[in-house]
Amino acid sequence: MKPLLDIQNLSINFATDEGLVHAVNDVSLQVQAGEAIAIVGESGAGKSQIFQSVMGLLTPNATATGRVDFKSNRILNKPSSVLNQLRGKHISMIFQDPMTSLNPYLRVGKQLIEVLQTHQKISTKEAQDKSMAMLHAVKLRNPEHCFKQYPHELSGGMRQRICIAMALLCEPDLLIADEPTTALDVTVQAGIMDLLKELHASKQMAIVFITHDLPLALNFCERIVVMYAGRIVETGSTQDILYASQHPYTRALLAASPQHSLNELGRFHAIDGMPPDPLIPLTHCAFKNRCNYANKQCEQQPDLLAKDDGHQLACFNPITKVL
Ligand SMILES: Nc1ncnc2c1ncn2[C@@H]1O[C@H](COP(=O)(O)OP(=O)(O)OP(=O)(O)O)[C@@H](O)[C@H]1O
Ligand code: SF4
Ligand SMILES: [Mg+2]
Repeated sequence: MKPLLDIQNLSINFATDEGLVHAVNDVSLQVQAGEAIAIVGESGAGKSQIFQSVMGLLTPNATATGRVDFKSNRILNKPSSVLNQLRGKHISMIFQDPMTSLNPYLRVGKQLIEVLQTHQKISTKEAQDKSMAMLHAVKLRNPEHCFKQYPHELSGGMRQRICIAMALLCEPDLLIADEPTTALDVTVQAGIMDLLKELHASKQMAIVFITHDLPLALNFCERIVVMYAGRIVETGSTQDILYASQHPYTRALLAASPQHSLNELGRFHAIDGMPPDPLIPLTHCAFKNRCNYANKQCEQQPDLLAKDDGHQLACFNPITKVL
């Protein structure tokens, strides 16, 4: 079956005063219709920029090469006139800060109606009814009241529910959720994640969930892509990553998560050191300076190779000890 989204050999560089920032390096990944996939990694790993390029939202100093197909249509570097046919209607994105998507000067209801009428030839009354139904679907408390409010009159959690409603209005095939709960407190976060899970199941819509929180990703998604310094270092099913991960970075992320045991000093295992400077092109494994398993071979870049069905790994010395 052809994937819904097919990214092949995507690289993204940014021209800056300091030099060329190598943000994404030769990334290939596919999203199948209806699946929930997580992109996980530390800050600066390149997670967001991959999907900014899918949405045609890269900044003007960016250069993206490779190939991105959505439903078999080439979309990388296409002009807004082409991408506007897809954005909102077939692919939607929600962000960490809901105000990125909301207009502070327009009442919530008007914004929802506008989104619908941009993509569908329907009357204002019909758009109003559909918008209200969607506000109910995202379980907003008192939707009739919120419909008439300005975004700043609502809480962060309510604003994010409205963004989700807005993103789902045209029933997209793919929802990209970029750290949608990071700015929210833990109880609100849990509510939003439950809502996304429910909508994913009921609408059979594919979700790309971008996060630095591996446990959250494992709880929500069927497939996990682990990124480090602009590259995919390991990818597999949730079971592969949770019980059979072999990349030292994935193992370090698991050990750093609160679900895992504390170290002998009663602290969480932090990952020592910093990711490499993205201004410097690498010839060695990007994780080498933080890796306890590094040897001479790691002076070269490991390729991402298939281990077994769907499980891929980029490491010369995989950890085979059972988790
Ligand atoms: N407009 C820009 N100009 C220069 N460099 C940029 C620009 N946007 C992003 N970058 C760089 O690209 C790299 C990847 O950024 P990206 O936003 O994809 O990271 P991320 O994995 O989403 O991190 P975070 O978890 O912090 O959101 C980073 O080194 C970042 O500094
Ligand atoms: S290739 Fe070498 S340095 Fe890189 S993660 Fe594997 S063992 Fe560590
Ligand atoms: Mg990001």
